Amino acid sequence: MTVTQLEKRVLAVAVVFVLLLFGFAALAVNQFHVGLPTCLTSVKPFQKGEVITHSPNHYEVHYVARMWRFEPEQVTVPAGSTVDVYVSTPDVTHGLILVGTDLNLMAVPGVVNYARIKFPRPQVYQMICHEYCGLGHDRMAATLRVVDPATYHSPEASPPSVVAVDVGYRLLDTKQCLSCHSLHADADLAPSFKGMYGRTQKLSDGSTVTIDDAYLRESIVHPSAKLVNGYDDVMPVPDATNEEVEQMIQYLKTLK
Ligand code: CUA
Repeated sequence: MTVTQLEKRVLAVAVVFVLLLFGFAALAVNQFHVGLPTCLTSVKPFQKGEVITHSPNHYEVHYVARMWRFEPEQVTVPAGSTVDVYVSTPDVTHGLILVGTDLNLMAVPGVVNYARIKFPRPQVYQMICHEYCGLGHDRMAATLRVVDPATYHSPEASPPSVVAVDVGYRLLDTKQCLSCHSLHADADLAPSFKGMYGRTQKLSDGSTVTIDDAYLRESIVHPSAKLVNGYDDVMPVPDATNEEVEQMIQYLKTLK
């Protein structure tokens, strides 16, 4: 391969430009104290997704896009509302699109993006991630429900302010177990939790095991000990106390 004189010059110019770019970035940080964007997870209110009610027809939703879900996953507002949508992400770039509307935002680490949208009529909208963000990208979705104002504001229709959620479920959710393990029959990243308890399970070494309390406990605190056949040794050890592990097991046993 021969490199002509012209190509050499073009390469040299490219290298100079790359060096200048990094040079200016370093100068900006060191001399002018320009902050480079970092992840926003330490900044409230973008640590978790939430809905803020400003008035009966004005809402603010803080979406946190993370691998691989949107928080909050379910949002309900009355028809006629104006919704201010903010989105950020603590991990990688995601996209947020509300199918059938003009709402289309990127979720970029270190950045909060914003759009305002009005919902004149009751309708159920799907929110999906439209930027490839890894293995679970295609499952990254949420729902935004626009309901009749009468339904929304009637006391008997509104859900109780504190929803009784099983403590074991909440642990599985907050410890990110459900990012890979499904509560339903579908499973791709990790074995599904559905109907698992009591079953005879084939392991990757060819042996079998009955899924009981002891197996579940071992699989939570020492995930690589006994791998379900067909799955890789990729599960991180969750940060959980003995009591939390027991609560998770009690919940897993209920998933028929
Ligand atoms: Cu998040 Cu694709």
